[in-house]
Amino acid sequence: MSSSLPSSGPIPLPEPWKVKVVEPILLPSREEREAHLRACGYNVFHLPAEAVFIDLLTDSGTSAQSDRQWSGLVAGDEAYAGGRCWYAFEATVQEIFGLPHVIPVHQGRAGERLLFSEMVSPGDLVPNNRHFDTTRANLEILLAEAVDLPSPASGEPGVEHPFKGNLDLERLETLLKEATPRQVPLVLLTLTDNAGGGQPVSLANVRAVGEICRRFGVPFWIDACRFAENAFFIREREPGQQGRSIPEIVADLFAEVDGCLMSAKKDGLANIGGFLACRDGRLAERLREALVVTEGFPTYGGLAGRDLAAVAVGLREVLDLRYLEFRIRQVEWLGQRLLEAGIPIVRPSGGHAVYIDAAALLPHILPERFPGQALAVELYRHGGVRGVEIGSVMFGRSDPETGGFVPAEHELVRLAVPRRVYSHSQLGYVVDVLAHIRSRADQIQGLRFVHEPDVLRHFNARFEEVRVEAVVPAAAATAAS
Ligand code: F0G
Repeated sequence: MSSSLPSSGPIPLPEPWKVKVVEPILLPSREEREAHLRACGYNVFHLPAEAVFIDLLTDSGTSAQSDRQWSGLVAGDEAYAGGRCWYAFEATVQEIFGLPHVIPVHQGRAGERLLFSEMVSPGDLVPNNRHFDTTRANLEILLAEAVDLPSPASGEPGVEHPFKGNLDLERLETLLKEATPRQVPLVLLTLTDNAGGGQPVSLANVRAVGEICRRFGVPFWIDACRFAENAFFIREREPGQQGRSIPEIVADLFAEVDGCLMSAKKDGLANIGGFLACRDGRLAERLREALVVTEGFPTYGGLAGRDLAAVAVGLREVLDLRYLEFRIRQVEWLGQRLLEAGIPIVRPSGGHAVYIDAAALLPHILPERFPGQALAVELYRHGGVRGVEIGSVMFGRSDPETGGFVPAEHELVRLAVPRRVYSHSQLGYVVDVLAHIRSRADQIQGLRFVHEPDVLRHFNARFEEVRVEAVVPAAAATAAS
């Protein structure tokens, strides 16, 4: 894959902004970090953020906002109905996504709950390249089945492929042919595939899914959280797309869909916000009626006017090619440095995050002892760094018949890079911490639940450390090579 920059030539561009406000961060002592780990039950979601030195838990709502966004925040109009910021927000979404009906929500999962409550019934099947945890949970609480149809290429973390986020078209066709009498109320596609490594979906795949959905008469919706990062990858990797503008590619993507749902906490470059947008005016009416009951009046949807203003500005800033180049290169640089340090990662690096293959790094820890969670704990223990497990804690199951343990497809730890927040030297420190962890990998312990919630258990679970026998020497963990 070419590492040359599409618009700036052979010299990689540095940050296309300068820092105006800084927030001090502090590395607690080793003893303090151990105490924090015990207090949070070895679940890094429960660490106080002030005790985290480099926070790569999520890219969601953690962006640094620009001076123009802050101006929007100050100028925000806080009218309950018909505020100025609402009209700017609505027009921005309509223009970028080409969808006429816009329904604001306070964040992505509120949109999921609203949309699925209108469209999905118990027993329904909902396909997706890969459902993220909140999307899956919002379907499962309605007793629908969330079906993942990832492309075969995404099954092998160490193998490079330009569009590992693609949906498996054959399996989609088969599912739609054979679903009856069960209903498929909509097909989802998540850009980028967060649960599978932040991997992009090609324009060709989006078009093919659109064509299949039209043929079967099933609505097609995109989860657009990271639509701009996905569009950048299309511009860079898909034949025939080089040299096109990001807004043109985005317009082509969303020309295929009946609607989209978006958490603006990602590619909205905002700290809060989201929306649903669709073509069907009657559906939009029903969504607005439900919105008033739970989120707020349809011109603010649970947000302050100033939040709407920040999203409206952020959605335009995220389309800037110089911003996207820096963003994608920075994450790519982190992945490259990790590979050089012998850390196995999902290849290629994702748009918003690098995903470490914890199963390959810690082969002595079996899935039922949660190698990803163990690695997340070590990251904090040794460096005050916070990442998140995306493995059997998040997606493992108990078999409903036998009660036995069903592991997740992969045991990953995601290092999500907040937008416009950390420098290369801070990310270099994270690489050093991981190189240290790798040097003593065979001494790392596994974990077991002491508290296991029923829904979205990774958020509130508590663990204790358990010693595991080293069955494979850590030196074997060279999947990166
Ligand atoms: N869809 C995807 C693909 C997501 O990544 C997320 C959130 C959501 C929906 C829900 O949006 O948080 O605004 O309610 N992902 C965050 C993450 C939490 O860390 O990846 P939300």
